[in-house]
Amino acid sequence: MSLSGKKILIAVSGGIAAYKIHFLIRDFIKKGAEVQVIMTPDAEQFVTKLSISTLSKKPVYTDFYGDNGTWNSHVELALWADIMLVAPCTANTLSKMVHGMCDNLVIATYMSAKCPVFIAPAMDLDMYAHPSTKRNIELAESFGHVIIPAENGELASGLIGQGRMSEPETIAKAIEDFFNSDTKKTLEGKTVLITAGPTYEAIDPVRFIGNHSSGKMGFSLAEEASKRGAKVILISGPSSEKTDHKNIELHKVTSAKEMLEKVFEFYDKADIGIASAAVADYAPKEVAKEKIKKNDDHLTIELVKNPDILKTMGEKKTHQFLVGFALETQNEEENAKAKLEKKNLNMIVLNSLRDEGAGFKNETNKIKIFTPTEKKEFELKSKDEVAKDILDFVDTQLLK
Ligand code: C5P
Repeated sequence: MSLSGKKILIAVSGGIAAYKIHFLIRDFIKKGAEVQVIMTPDAEQFVTKLSISTLSKKPVYTDFYGDNGTWNSHVELALWADIMLVAPCTANTLSKMVHGMCDNLVIATYMSAKCPVFIAPAMDLDMYAHPSTKRNIELAESFGHVIIPAENGELASGLIGQGRMSEPETIAKAIEDFFNSDTKKTLEGKTVLITAGPTYEAIDPVRFIGNHSSGKMGFSLAEEASKRGAKVILISGPSSEKTDHKNIELHKVTSAKEMLEKVFEFYDKADIGIASAAVADYAPKEVAKEKIKKNDDHLTIELVKNPDILKTMGEKKTHQFLVGFALETQNEEENAKAKLEKKNLNMIVLNSLRDEGAGFKNETNKIKIFTPTEKKEFELKSKDEVAKDILDFVDTQLLK
């Protein structure tokens, strides 16, 4: 059982999403965990102690005072737990947690806890979007807590938007991943700079030259590097990928020139540079100030070469370990090896457009890695798995 012997302390606060907590308790118990539930006084308006204690097989506490002059020790509860989950976490409870407003059993227990804390916020659209909530979430993250972000959908008020507590399966997955993660912190203390996505080169105010890169490979690399303990600076062109890992600093750019500038704002600090962006090789010489009219049968746009960001990183390399990508359609291996040398890289990842499932828009990739002296081939895998292979390879190179 995936949660066998784990002690999970769930704090329920007073939101309509409290009804979902029953499913979560049942799931945790089924997977072998011990579950202790505490609630804020308001939570009792939404769920009963009886229904919860029946599922958790333990008494549910809402205040410090037990029967016959006994008391419910928040310190014991806190020290018992392997993890604490606050779900649903209302705006009120979140605010009390981050500001130390200790006026109930839940907050006193939270403030006595030494274990990792997971928070699943739930509130109405405008409350979730309010600057004070945003700041409180940032504060909670800065304490090292894990936020399981609210989801989009229909809210109790009838409004539609972000604010719904994550589904029990999503919360359970975050907690199981935490317990089952055997990721070694091989990149602790290192800064990894990653470029991702396409670049868009403006033709006029509404048109651009771009490509089909999704940014997925770069975002997977960023997630995996941050799991290994690195601080990640992720510089991405236009991409719909998202990340909310607390160790990833995301900088969005549009054009190759902007990407170059951003890269060199941080390059000195980087220990490892990974260029997975599909940077446009050429950009229009002039950007038309107004939308170009379709008056003529032919239109000629003069293109000029963009800066080669990775090549410039290679030229300015002092201590950085540099990884490039090569997406080739012919003479793949020769071209990749030539790039490795020409751009002064430590390692290059080749994906061939001839391999089905490899390259730009796919969820999967099939790669070969080259260093000046080695070559390693990999099977077709998801981009998350490929990111692990790439960083495993980087790890072995750094140990040499
Ligand atoms: O020379 P080519 O574009 O094939 O090289 C690909 C590698 O160089 C990728 O790692 C890509 O991110 C990087 N690159 C870059 N700036 C460019 C073109 C490519 O950083 N202008």
